[in-house]
Amino acid sequence: MTAEENKIFKSDIELFCRTFLNFHPYPYQVELLEKSVKTEKLAVRFGRQTGKTLTIAASAVYHLFWNDNYQIIVAAPSQEQSNRFIKYVKDFIHNSKLMSKLITRETVKMVELSNRSTVLALPGGQAGKKAGHTMRGAPANLIIIDEAAWITESVIYDVILPIGTFHNARIWAISTPCGKNHFYKMVKEQGFKELVCSVEKAMLFSENIKKYVTEKVWPVMSKSSVRYRREYMAEFDVEQSQVFPAHLLWGEKERNVIGAVNNDLRFIDTGEPGKEYVMGVDVGKWRDMAVIAIFEIDGDKNRLVHMREFEDPSQREFRILKNTIMTLLDQFNVTKLVIDALGQGDPVVEDLEYYLNMTGKGVYLVPFIFTYNSRLLVVENIIQLLEKDCIKIPPYAPLINEMMDYERIFTEDGKIKYRHPKDSTSDRLDAVMMALWGCQEAKYDPIIIGLKKERGED
Ligand SMILES: Nc1ncnc2c1ncn2[C@@H]1O[C@H](COP(=O)(O)OP(=O)(O)OP(=O)(O)O)[C@@H](O)[C@H]1O
Ligand SMILES: [Mg+2]
Repeated sequence: MTAEENKIFKSDIELFCRTFLNFHPYPYQVELLEKSVKTEKLAVRFGRQTGKTLTIAASAVYHLFWNDNYQIIVAAPSQEQSNRFIKYVKDFIHNSKLMSKLITRETVKMVELSNRSTVLALPGGQAGKKAGHTMRGAPANLIIIDEAAWITESVIYDVILPIGTFHNARIWAISTPCGKNHFYKMVKEQGFKELVCSVEKAMLFSENIKKYVTEKVWPVMSKSSVRYRREYMAEFDVEQSQVFPAHLLWGEKERNVIGAVNNDLRFIDTGEPGKEYVMGVDVGKWRDMAVIAIFEIDGDKNRLVHMREFEDPSQREFRILKNTIMTLLDQFNVTKLVIDALGQGDPVVEDLEYYLNMTGKGVYLVPFIFTYNSRLLVVENIIQLLEKDCIKIPPYAPLINEMMDYERIFTEDGKIKYRHPKDSTSDRLDAVMMALWGCQEAKYDPIIIGLKKERGED
């Protein structure tokens, strides 16, 4: 490039992207590219599938190219997500005639160019503090946090922001929002400049996004649902109808959401002798997924340590579910088992009861029927436990998503009703709530609560 060309392309990131990366940004993405060049602390609050990761990856390539010895660190809730970011960066570089010959080193997690500039993916929040520690020593000019609202708060506060301060690094946080949690606070309290774009704005500029929204999203999702407003409209303030607003999940000081899962989001606890566990089972019946949730009771803390899901209809066959329940009862020292029952004399429950009696296991079996009233009780129970900081839940996205989607509505006769939106489920949450019901000492007699009501009231 001539000196004149250098000047032109360096001063125009959009032109650089179009010319060298074959990336043709939509107008709101152009705005994002330009802001990224000028901003030290940037919070990008965009709806799903608006191309936020791709646009920021293009900007990362621009920054690697124009700066020598420039270190970019990418953090995300999981290693896989940060690797995906690197893949976007690598694809841009490989497909560019100008850039591809500059690569001096590359792996799944990193790329280095001949000017010694690198981009490196690191696991972030969901892997817990341990992963965050590996970031601590890393020098950085720029930290990119993809899905920032989903990274454990302590990693943001204890690791990422301090590195930013220590190295005087720039920080870009990109995310769909997740209620008023740490991502919200970055803007309100940490001086991040915010750029916002909903899918409804994005679809004005992109036929692909329009097609996706009109064909895939709108048909299955109510526009007033918490989920649509949060994930697609990128709204922070959807907490009114939300049963589990972010402050309940993330807590004020103490964190209710903890790093108890490994990199692959598998639960770490495998059952330790001497500990006490309670199991909740959502049988799933014909349509839904069956889920087993196991909590460890440790003083007044109830810690979710294991979750098993049976999505495949053949696996939901009761024989298989029962065998898994029995294996887990053996593995964990389960003292109470709360299982959803259809009504008095539910064959599934009777079968389990018979089996437990036969094997002489000291497990207290609690059949639970979801009715209007019993649902109110288990939901209010979990809310109370969260408020008192008596629950620890790992940041396991499928469960947290169910919790964040769970809605409180008022019926025409003014009653409160809890439910999941049409396009969502609450199978994991139901198993969790049943287990937590079992964790409560006999404040109410759960068997009576469960069986007193007639089936079909819910
Ligand atoms: N300007 C563009 N031109 C062509 N394709 C684009 C453009 N922007 C985004 N895309 C495509 O849209 C898809 C979504 O992009 P991307 O993964 O960056 O979105 P996102 O907002 O990060 O999504 P998610 O919310 O799922 O993380 C990708 O297939 C990407 O290649
Ligand atoms: Mg993304």
